[in-house]
Amino acid sequence: MFPEGFLWGAAGSPHQTEGNNLASDLWELENRPGGFLPERSGDACDSYHRWPEDLDIVRGLGLDAYRFGIEWARIEPVRGRISRAALAHYRRIIEGCLERGLTPVVTLHHFTSPLWFQAAGGWTAPDAIASFRSYVRAVLPILDGVTWVCTVNEPNMLAMMASMIRKEKRSENVAGAMPPPDQAVAEALMAAHRAAREELSALPGVRSGWTVANQNFEPVDGADAECDRWAWTREDQFLDAADGDDFIGVQAYTRVRIGRDGALPVPEGARTTLTGWEYYPAALGNAVRHTAARLPGTPILVTENGIATSDDTERIAYTRDALTGLADAIASGIDVRGYLHWSLLDNYEWGSYHATFGLVAVDRTTFARTPKPSASWLGAFATSQKQRAVS
Ligand code: BGC
Repeated sequence: MFPEGFLWGAAGSPHQTEGNNLASDLWELENRPGGFLPERSGDACDSYHRWPEDLDIVRGLGLDAYRFGIEWARIEPVRGRISRAALAHYRRIIEGCLERGLTPVVTLHHFTSPLWFQAAGGWTAPDAIASFRSYVRAVLPILDGVTWVCTVNEPNMLAMMASMIRKEKRSENVAGAMPPPDQAVAEALMAAHRAAREELSALPGVRSGWTVANQNFEPVDGADAECDRWAWTREDQFLDAADGDDFIGVQAYTRVRIGRDGALPVPEGARTTLTGWEYYPAALGNAVRHTAARLPGTPILVTENGIATSDDTERIAYTRDALTGLADAIASGIDVRGYLHWSLLDNYEWGSYHATFGLVAVDRTTFARTPKPSASWLGAFATSQKQRAVS
């Protein structure tokens, strides 16, 4: 049973949906001659212009929350030069949510940074935290009416990706199997998070936290100690850093099994998704339990959960089972405030459009949006749960 007031929604991020994020570090990487990414984001879903349609879809499905991000590279395309037009753009989206009765869940940093920030040394540069703080300060005036703010999306993934990008290759395709994060980047992100929360505390209505990629590390053949070490560097230190936050964002898709020599491949013959991850809907309930055990009493918001599949029936089955696990975790007494499905749209999956996570298909030429059966399914499920909660 999902409590009264539980938020039901869908999620996206700026770089993956807006298109033409020209001043960002990733745009440069995608468009670098001879770059290693198979596809560039290009126009993405053109949500920079089509966001009203996206919000209408969310509302029309009967969902009540929408997670989207503010793109730092648009707010501050050149160091110290704040774009008022970009601020006004995101303010319109926030107002667009409020007008439709949707709760906006706003992410301030979702993997991409301005190119100037990266060129100046990225997160470990001496003035990195001050730069992030001043970006957050610039955004404060447009956050009126916003309750939920995610400072940094998946800092653990970001810290692991930073080292992979440096090597210019993809060694593993699942976050939990990647090399350990660069500890200096990890700690800089923690400092950036604290700075952002300090700034956000100027807005009494805001609840701020960050979101962590939950990997459901499982020891195999008695590799408990190795599993604990693995989980500490790649996940748990980032959960512990959220101690005292207003909430913690749980993002779960799959599990990663750990043997005595580290991450094990997905077992031969196991069912996998379009990202090559193991099909594992229990990931969500387990991640919520793990997070709650690490951060007792901290409210949880599921900020991402979903599946990359071209079979929409499979998306429904996965989501139904994931939600059953979530309901069980709630029944055990864990304080979960909402569920935001990843993702609303078939968007740019960091290097390609192949892995479709969306509840809504997007035509790559016309940008026409076509809700899939899973979208109506989730909307109907949410509506029935809301009715149960108040009856
Ligand atoms: C990220 C999303 C991504 C999703 C699926 C999370 O790591 O926050 O941006 O698309 O998982 O890979």
